[in-house]
Amino acid sequence: MRVPAKVNLQLAVGPGREDGFHDLVNVFHAVSLFDEVTVTTAPSRPETGLTELTVGGGLGSHLSRVPLDGTNLTARAAALLAERTGRGHPVTIHMDKHIPVAGGMAGGSADAAAALVACDRLWGCDLPRRTLLDYAAELGSDVPFALVGATAVGRGRGEILEPMAGPGRFHWVFALSPHGLSTAKVFAEYDRLRPDAPEPRADAALAAALAAADPVALGRALSNDLQGAALSLLPELERTLETGTEAGALGALVSGSGPTCAFLVGGGAEERSVIDRREADVVAALEASGLCERVVTAYGDVPGATVL
Ligand code: C5P
Repeated sequence: MRVPAKVNLQLAVGPGREDGFHDLVNVFHAVSLFDEVTVTTAPSRPETGLTELTVGGGLGSHLSRVPLDGTNLTARAAALLAERTGRGHPVTIHMDKHIPVAGGMAGGSADAAAALVACDRLWGCDLPRRTLLDYAAELGSDVPFALVGATAVGRGRGEILEPMAGPGRFHWVFALSPHGLSTAKVFAEYDRLRPDAPEPRADAALAAALAAADPVALGRALSNDLQGAALSLLPELERTLETGTEAGALGALVSGSGPTCAFLVGGGAEERSVIDRREADVVAALEASGLCERVVTAYGDVPGATVL
């Protein structure tokens, strides 16, 4: 399975709910940074139970942050499906990771979505898509979007999805941090900084920019209510955002709960050479800054979890 990362084009966060979550208006945009997840029948029952997890990929220090026990969201996806269908058998789940780990790009959610679809096939469950989406939502707020991909607005805690069609392709640069941030901690910091958060509202300017495939307007409309909380926990991100903006990015924001920073470098009807130049300038400035562990480029949107 091939499954994409996401960046949030708008992340509006309301007040804390009684269940510990927050109501969101969360505009997800799937980008061409993919994890590959392979699920195979285990030759013998793994010591760890239903699933044995392995991880690879060229993400350096990020890989050591991937838990390889039952707490990994892929193991929980397999366990949930086995419990609901009674058809589970032991599997090995290999994650070839290219999406930053604990980076605000929903890499763990993406892997879980891939594991859910792969186990559904391998075990011959063939559940309807609606059921898979419901199980995905039980696993985490961002998991349904990884199944759907493209560009979509998520409401509720982010799991109630509505597609947002736009004709354009957009190009991005991502600055990966040497650090990870816990989503729960960033939301807690948000509550501390914004005890009086208003109800979240969709941004009409963002929808118009997407409909017109206008990269300049999209760059201006990017917004993330969690950015202040992420900067409060990792103040050096402010300099990362400034570096990309000064180098010519059309827009810059922390992706989701961070700490990955996202820079829009063009798209829509712009000439490829204009986009390439802007992208090269932003990449060079970020690499020279010494602020990030690595810098990667990607475009969006792209489809959700796909069987290879
Ligand atoms: O849904 P998920 O497991 O990805 O959420 C991780 C944590 O992020 C939650 O435990 C909660 O603290 C926080 N969260 C939230 N409101 C949301 C989504 C996540 O407070 N809408």
